[in-house]
Amino acid sequence: MREAREQKIGVIGGGLMGHGIAYLFAAAGHPVGLYEPIAEIRESLPRRLKAIAELFEEDPVLLKRIEARDALAPAMQGAAFVFEAAPEKLPLKQQLFAELEAAVAPETILASNSSAIPSAEIGRHLRHRERVIGTHFWNPPHLVPLVEVIQNERTSEAVVQETIALLRDAGKVPVHVRRDIPGFVGNRLQHAMKREAIALVAAGVCDAETIDTVVKEGFGARTAVLGPMEQSDLVGLNLTLDIAEVLIADLDRTAGPHPFLRDKVKAGKLGMKTGEGLRKWAPGEADAVRERLSRFLVEQAKAKRKAKSHP
Ligand SMILES: NC(=O)c1ccc[n+]([C@@H]2O[C@H](COP(=O)([O-])OP(=O)(O)OC[C@H]3O[C@@H](n4cnc5c(N)ncnc54)[C@H](O)[C@@H]3O)[C@@H](O)[C@H]2O)c1
Repeated sequence: MREAREQKIGVIGGGLMGHGIAYLFAAAGHPVGLYEPIAEIRESLPRRLKAIAELFEEDPVLLKRIEARDALAPAMQGAAFVFEAAPEKLPLKQQLFAELEAAVAPETILASNSSAIPSAEIGRHLRHRERVIGTHFWNPPHLVPLVEVIQNERTSEAVVQETIALLRDAGKVPVHVRRDIPGFVGNRLQHAMKREAIALVAAGVCDAETIDTVVKEGFGARTAVLGPMEQSDLVGLNLTLDIAEVLIADLDRTAGPHPFLRDKVKAGKLGMKTGEGLRKWAPGEADAVRERLSRFLVEQAKAKRKAKSHP
């Protein structure tokens, strides 16, 4: 296996996800080549990257490790890994991977941050498909620890292990997802819960505010330290089964998105950006939620870094 530290990392796209991914690898000591075709976004990178350094109270001198370029080949030259965070369009990603194959060594690992497109599709036309993999970061990638590492039917085991090692060394918490299925693991879990939550509100069992309170003040209060599998084993699988016998048949099984959700979208009630979605949002309330989330994630990330540097 290659030594993880100081390998050159290529990042494609300097948007919301790409700039955070570039930051985290630079902070871990890697030189980073970033390809961003849009001049305005490229020029905004130093300011956006500096803002992350300020969040972590890190020396912005580390940003010198990131070099942003307006062309793919020079940015990716010599990269051991490439993380693609370009717009979510299959033909565009396929085109970028074709250009990548011509620009980097045959063993360079090519990872896509796509939320939904199978990496096998993105790499379909490549000669060396065993090095194509999915790496699903969560937004913001420099703050949320998890990265789902998704193996497709062609990805080699060695590529999975090298990708996991690199991410772990950079302070992330990578998990191995063995099949490239829609939603991977995290979004499937999230949407299973949202499906039930929306059905409960639609049926008039409770309002949307109540759902949020139940999650945040109930099982959510312990979820960061007690996952659902641990919790099931904690209470005992006999109890888990007894509850499932009563409950499962009663849970929502609407085929497709719930009509309640479709009607909201049709009515233009899209959430914070329109002032109403599942809940009503007075001016300033949405900003307060964003501020609360950002503060919480920064505090968590800082505490983790501190624990890592002073175990
Ligand atoms: N935003 C999220 O919460 C999130 C979470 C996980 C995964 N993703 C995935 O990450 C990828 C990027 O999402 P984002 O939210 O950062 O999008 P974004 O629009 O913020 O960033 C995409 C960047 O790619 C650039 N770009 C446009 N054309 C390009 C090209 N031809 N070559 C290279 N770069 C190009 C854009 O200028 C932009 O800066 C998508 O595949 C998305 O599905 C997003």
